[in-house]
Amino acid sequence: MAVIADRCPNIEVTVVDLNETRIAAWNDADLSKLPIYEPGLDEVVARTRGRNLHFSTDVVNAIASADIVFISVNTPTKTKGLGSGEASDLRWVEACARQVAECAKGHTIVVEKSTLPVRTAKTIQVILQAAQKCDSRDQQEKSFVVLSNPEFLAEGTAIKDLISPDRVLIGGEDAKAIKSLSKIYEQWVPKEKILCTNLWSSELSKLTANAFLAQRISSINAVAELCEVTGADVREVAKAIGTDSRIGQRFLNSGPGFGGSCFKKDILNLVYLCKHFGLHEVAQYWQNVVTLNNWQQTRIARLIVEKLFGTVTGKKLAVFGFAFKANTNDTREAPAISIAKDLLDEGAQLAIYDPKVNAKQISLDLNMPASSPPDAKAGPTRSALSGEGSWWSSQNINDAVNGADAVVILTEWSQFKELNWSEIAPLMRKPAWIFDARSVVDPNTVKLAGLKLWRVGDGT
Ligand code: UGA
Repeated sequence: MAVIADRCPNIEVTVVDLNETRIAAWNDADLSKLPIYEPGLDEVVARTRGRNLHFSTDVVNAIASADIVFISVNTPTKTKGLGSGEASDLRWVEACARQVAECAKGHTIVVEKSTLPVRTAKTIQVILQAAQKCDSRDQQEKSFVVLSNPEFLAEGTAIKDLISPDRVLIGGEDAKAIKSLSKIYEQWVPKEKILCTNLWSSELSKLTANAFLAQRISSINAVAELCEVTGADVREVAKAIGTDSRIGQRFLNSGPGFGGSCFKKDILNLVYLCKHFGLHEVAQYWQNVVTLNNWQQTRIARLIVEKLFGTVTGKKLAVFGFAFKANTNDTREAPAISIAKDLLDEGAQLAIYDPKVNAKQISLDLNMPASSPPDAKAGPTRSALSGEGSWWSSQNINDAVNGADAVVILTEWSQFKELNWSEIAPLMRKPAWIFDARSVVDPNTVKLAGLKLWRVGDGT
């Protein structure tokens, strides 16, 4: 919405939320306090906020005065009831649709921006139509059109992705409404990049695009494990296959598995849909993408334990990176969570360092309070001696590696590419290991510093 406001100064954009704290943060004069860390977003907000971009909790009036309403609420995986663990929880989408139905005035185009299961537009349409029929209080005609307009931006590159998208997808049946929405994007996106489809194709394309991307990651991670036992190198294999223009180079980086709020949720949703329609083989096919992803995380934790003489109990390990990818403070489904939990179960003492993720978030994700950083001179801590895992948030690299048996790199922050291993090595307890799950280190420099190295997919 910030980018729409930036590119279309003639359009008034109001972002509304019931959460007062969240809206206050979006209105904070200090732009470093915006609720989301996203490169370039602060500049866009600085240019537009108060001009034609507004953040407000006045949901009722914003809906009443809007020509177009974008439903952009989250749709997490259901945790209980029918479809638990797979289906999307649509309660917030439904609540939005009901509120739009109640508060809208005149003709309103309702746009599904959230990622939704196929045929959700039908539910929204039925709710809106019901309001259309029964509204007689103010004698004002109310009418609605529903469009699907899924978002394809990736976190960390969101502004760039929005400014020059590969495509904008608009699904719907009403030509006039499609034209109105298309005209907004046409203010900065070339017209040939705006694809129009029917509602169901648009909804399904979003889920499918994410499933394809995630499937590539699981495929390359499966190859990585094979590389490790055969003497091949996954980076070389990825390059070799990626030069085939039919395959392409992108999204072939082997790592600790995909994280983020979308891939797993969307695939599980696809699995649920397939099962619902009796397509069990298709459901199983997509399920395996998630299974392989879970395995990648489990096996990394296991091999760390194995290489450290079969035990990490009481050992200090430095974890570099907690966000699910670089350039974001988002930790949702981050592979670091499951790997760190497995290591904590084994009794490890984890010094976690991430340039953007704070200790409060890590504590929530690990479901464990932080311990205070141990005093190196005071000997082993009580938890280390008792065999219980513990963690704390390190403010810098040197504190994190001091006395550590291993460094585990789980996010590809660019600063990890520039680490000076010959300075780090003397601070660690020998034999010291570097576990590079993101292929960010230069193997020769690490080895020259006298450190042992495991890299994902490196069988050489
Ligand atoms: C993903 C899609 O890329 C977007 O197109 C989509 O709009 C978005 O989900 C969404 O549905 O909202 P995002 O999750 O922000 O975007 O980030 P990605 O760059 O796709 O990365 C997802 C995960 O895959 C990260 O954990 C990343 O480290 C991992 N990844 C990515 C790899 O392990 N290897 C790769 O080669 C690429």
